[in-house]
Amino acid sequence: MSFDKNFLWGAASASTQIEGAYKEDGKVLSIWDALLGDHIKHGENAFVACDHYHRFSEDIAIMKQLGLKSYRFSVSWCRVIKNSSGEINEKGLSFYKELVAQLLANGIEPLCTIYHWDLPMWAYELGGWKNEEIIKWYLHYVKTLVKELPEIKYWFTFNEPQCFVGLSYYLGVQAPFEKNDISTIAQISRNVMLAHGEAVKAIRTLNQEAKVSLAFANAAFIPVSQKDSDVEEAKTKSFNIEDPVGISWWGDSILLGKFPEPLNKLLSEEDKNTICQPLDFYAFNTYNAPDWVEGPFNGYPTTTMGWKVTPDVLYWTTKFLYERYGKPIMVSENGMANCDWVMSDGKVHDPQRIDFIKQYLNSLKKAADEVPVIGYQYWALTDNFEWTCGYDSRFGLVYIDYSSQKRTLKDSAYYYADIIKNNGENL
Ligand code: GCO
Repeated sequence: MSFDKNFLWGAASASTQIEGAYKEDGKVLSIWDALLGDHIKHGENAFVACDHYHRFSEDIAIMKQLGLKSYRFSVSWCRVIKNSSGEINEKGLSFYKELVAQLLANGIEPLCTIYHWDLPMWAYELGGWKNEEIIKWYLHYVKTLVKELPEIKYWFTFNEPQCFVGLSYYLGVQAPFEKNDISTIAQISRNVMLAHGEAVKAIRTLNQEAKVSLAFANAAFIPVSQKDSDVEEAKTKSFNIEDPVGISWWGDSILLGKFPEPLNKLLSEEDKNTICQPLDFYAFNTYNAPDWVEGPFNGYPTTTMGWKVTPDVLYWTTKFLYERYGKPIMVSENGMANCDWVMSDGKVHDPQRIDFIKQYLNSLKKAADEVPVIGYQYWALTDNFEWTCGYDSRFGLVYIDYSSQKRTLKDSAYYYADIIKNNGENL
């Protein structure tokens, strides 16, 4: 068997992208509620999104129907902590308590991301990730969650620092849409990494059974051939430590204690020890190989995000990351946006997604024959708010009609359910 019998087959989501109820029951605003300006396609927002806040039981019933073993979701900091004095919003917390209770009652392992980009406005107004005070605010939030949700074993401190630092503060294409120089990025990275390190320590103290990681945004270069020199070249390109949106800026720092130059200058020995906490597994989100050269003609297979379909990326990324960091691997996100609609027979036929899943999972299966892989989370369970791309990009296994909030299982959902049932042996 390529996949372990306890393999964590699942699907993923994130609070802002699905919950809605953006100012209900004491939730405060996040940068993804308040700073949208004209940055979002069609002027859309996540105020209602998939209305998961009110429909989570229905969504869990779908997960159960699909036979998911796990579900990766994120908690909204804005629902749980009201201000910089750390005041707790009990109503917000009870939403997550109920969600976790229902997941467990249905035999679904909750995988919790603590921070998936929705920085509270109160934190942003005090300097956000640029202010090192945020380490304290974040830690208080983390401790609150771990104490109040003791049944959660799998914790991700952050989702994709490459994006919420690199894309948000360096390239300026995600909220809060800022462009800063590399020294500011190093300062922000320091704060995020220290927050991560402190969080790992706190989680372990509060929950001895916890398995802790961070979901990195990682995609390795695919070697142009199997020749050793080509494999080496792909590896060298994949691990350029001076690139803040690359693998190593974050991975080498957090896993190996090796830091890029602008960051190294800012860190004391004590900081470095705090940052470099042992993790239980290495998690990464991957969609396509970087800079994939398609040859002399256009027309290479792409998703509706315009992303190239490059299944081998799962094999090579998994292998390279295991060799470099030596931790069991989890694919914490992988999936595609497709031009789905409810067809005249009332169903959503998405053969492209079925084939995408088939090819990517075969690639992962090949890796799993060589290195330990503990789970795969399809992105996403349902269609959702795709950040600045709004609602055009449909990534879900489940179709959402945003005007009625009706959920329709796509063909790929049934296909994925079958893979789970057979533990990937039918791939
Ligand atoms: C990310 C996030 C998800 C996205 C998904 C598709 O990778 O950007 O983790 O929130 O929606 O990856 O882009």
